[in-house]
Amino acid sequence: MSLQGKTALVTGAGSGIGRATALALAGQGVAVAVNDVDLERAQVTAKEVSSRGVRAVAARADVSSPDEVTAMIDEARKELNQIDILVNNAGIEHVVPFAQMAYEDWRRMLGIHVDGAFNCARGVVEGMVAARWGRIVNMASVAAFMGPDLQVHYATAKAALVGFTKSLAREVAPFGVTVNAIAPGLIDTPMARSFSPRFVDKMLELTPVGRLGQPEDIAYTALFLVAEEASFITGQVISPNGGHWV
Ligand SMILES: NC(=O)c1ccc[n+]([C@@H]2O[C@H](COP(=O)([O-])OP(=O)(O)OC[C@H]3O[C@@H](n4cnc5c(N)ncnc54)[C@H](O)[C@@H]3O)[C@@H](O)[C@H]2O)c1
Repeated sequence: MSLQGKTALVTGAGSGIGRATALALAGQGVAVAVNDVDLERAQVTAKEVSSRGVRAVAARADVSSPDEVTAMIDEARKELNQIDILVNNAGIEHVVPFAQMAYEDWRRMLGIHVDGAFNCARGVVEGMVAARWGRIVNMASVAAFMGPDLQVHYATAKAALVGFTKSLAREVAPFGVTVNAIAPGLIDTPMARSFSPRFVDKMLELTPVGRLGQPEDIAYTALFLVAEEASFITGQVISPNGGHWV
């Protein structure tokens, strides 16, 4: 795999899957802009990235804010010049019966996952097209297909990312830019640890491999999708889920 000298922006990289993905990219010689809404978390991951011998920049922004994302990408470009790889990973979970879901809950969920992907992709795609090379990976979820209980807003946001992925992939394919989505099963991160034990047990029962995924399982999938050799793979949703068919 040759990614040496490439640059990446990974959102929500202060924790869990985003952190593991930033570190996996760093291990392949990729310089990383480490985004998180929590600056301290971003700084910790950025330090870990630079300890692997590549450039790193901690880039605070709330991805749901177009202005904050524009400022973050300008800042990242000053350090890294071009962004070759974007991993739209930042996300939240929230469990609430639909009858009690406030409009603000709905907007916040779509704002972070869907507007966040729009804001970041919109900020980097022209550069990728001009460079005739780019990789965009969107973090969806099995929730897009299984429709988990009490997460109508989350499932809707993740399903929207699938449409976003497929449509954008078609548009930028002629310019050497691929766009794919990852739909993880349940992954052992701080987010998953906030789910009820009952939900986790239910997910485990549905997972023939018999364990939760690890952030590194998803980071490996992202590496596969952004590789030079993956230039014929675009508009796809790949679901590392331990055999949990949905
Ligand atoms: N853990 C799972 O089981 C699982 C399964 C499927 C999909 N996912 C998706 O994977 C992604 C990463 O999840 P994780 O499990 O690593 O979660 P996590 O909570 O460990 O990490 C998410 C990170 O995103 C950051 N973040 C939240 N809102 C943000 C915002 N507005 N702007 C920038 N950063 C923000 C958080 O501060 C946090 O550091 C999410 O999109 C999640 O929906 C997770």
